[in-house]
Amino acid sequence: MIKKVGILFGMEDTFPWAFIDKVNELGAGKIIAEPVKIDKLQQGIDYGYSVIFDRISQEVPFYRAYLKNAALQGTAIINNPFWWSADEKFFNNALALKLGVPVPKTVLLPSKERPDNTTATSFRNLEAPLDWDYMFEHIGFPAFMKPHDGGGWKNVYKVKSPEDLWEKFAETEQLVMMLQEEIIFEDYYRVYSIGQKYVHIMPYAPDNEPHLRYETTPKTTGAAHTKLMKTIKDYTLRLNKALGYDFNTVEFAIRDGVPYAIDFCNPAPDADVNSVGQENFDWVVEHVAKYAIEKAKAHKAGHDNTSWGTFVKEAIAPAPARKNKTTLKTAAEAKKSVKKEPIAKKKAPAKAKPKAIKVNTVKAKAAAKSDSIEKKVATKKTATKKATVKKATPKK
Ligand SMILES: Nc1ncnc2c1ncn2[C@@H]1O[C@H](COP(=O)(O)OP(=O)(O)O)[C@@H](O)[C@H]1O
Ligand SMILES: [Mg+2]
Repeated sequence: MIKKVGILFGMEDTFPWAFIDKVNELGAGKIIAEPVKIDKLQQGIDYGYSVIFDRISQEVPFYRAYLKNAALQGTAIINNPFWWSADEKFFNNALALKLGVPVPKTVLLPSKERPDNTTATSFRNLEAPLDWDYMFEHIGFPAFMKPHDGGGWKNVYKVKSPEDLWEKFAETEQLVMMLQEEIIFEDYYRVYSIGQKYVHIMPYAPDNEPHLRYETTPKTTGAAHTKLMKTIKDYTLRLNKALGYDFNTVEFAIRDGVPYAIDFCNPAPDADVNSVGQENFDWVVEHVAKYAIEKAKAHKAGHDNTSWGTFVKEAIAPAPARKNKTTLKTAAEAKKSVKKEPIAKKKAPAKAKPKAIKVNTVKAKAAAKSDSIEKKVATKKTATKKATVKKATPKK
């Protein structure tokens, strides 16, 4: 039977067509690619795609819902729309710490303006004032302030001082902003990650004009460069296996030879030939097409073909299905080890798992940690605090 691969996309105009052509070439008539066609969306209906490559549902909620329905019918979606809906950068950073991947020091700020349909009483759990002194001392200045679920360089601010921060914070309305240590880097890379196994490391100059950002060379050379590339590949795979992304980019700023992951929540990464350049474009088209073919071949009709990262899998899989908690498996390896059953026959596990114990331990650890932060902070409060905090308290 011929299998169908669909691509869902928006304004971009080079990558989708090249992807379709490449899949059709590699699919040799057995796997065919086309733009996803939608003339209606009825609950519970399978619209016939084995694989859908999603480039746009972050901007079109109707498409996100289309994809979740398709996933339920058995379509393999690149990337998993459920996880993508749940994910954001602050969580990603916290997960990176658990995975041993260096990230800049980061705190999260409540939005400047109250979310719609909330009142002052919606915020009784927030201390007033917040502990700005601690946050400023921990992060330092200059710092980066950016939305926790942003992308495309929108509302990314570099702030030089608390005063500068208040000024820029005032423009952020209901956005939830991360305040992050600036990594002053000697070298910088942007990395494509496909299927949690194909990795392509590109030297990147974020300070250049957008069309020249990929026109640069590595600043690290010799043995240090070889070692750095190995580390970057390792960190890229660690992050994407845990998150479960089949297509993503990870940015690394290199400081004193250490790669810090800056941005790794790009499930629809830029792949336009005019920005990434011909060579990177050819690589990415080739490898996403190859991966889409692999997914189409692995697709089993009537089964759940959704792939999840190890963060979720390890939280829900019965213990025997796991080899080793610290082993980050590829989607293919995981598939081999977990016997799949048709969706309709899935049953809830008979017994409660040791998960509860794990969660408690994690909670206890977190509580102990936050305790110690509180203690440290308690000694650092100063008289300037009230004045600074006034400006940032959600609007009354
Ligand atoms: N902590 C940081 N240190 C140094 N540069 C940063 C930092 N955070 C962001 N940047 C710069 O800002 C750019 C945009 O930030 P990023 O987190 O990638 O947001 P977006 O997802 O909107 O692109 C990055 O490519 C990088 O050049
Ligand atoms: Mg970015």
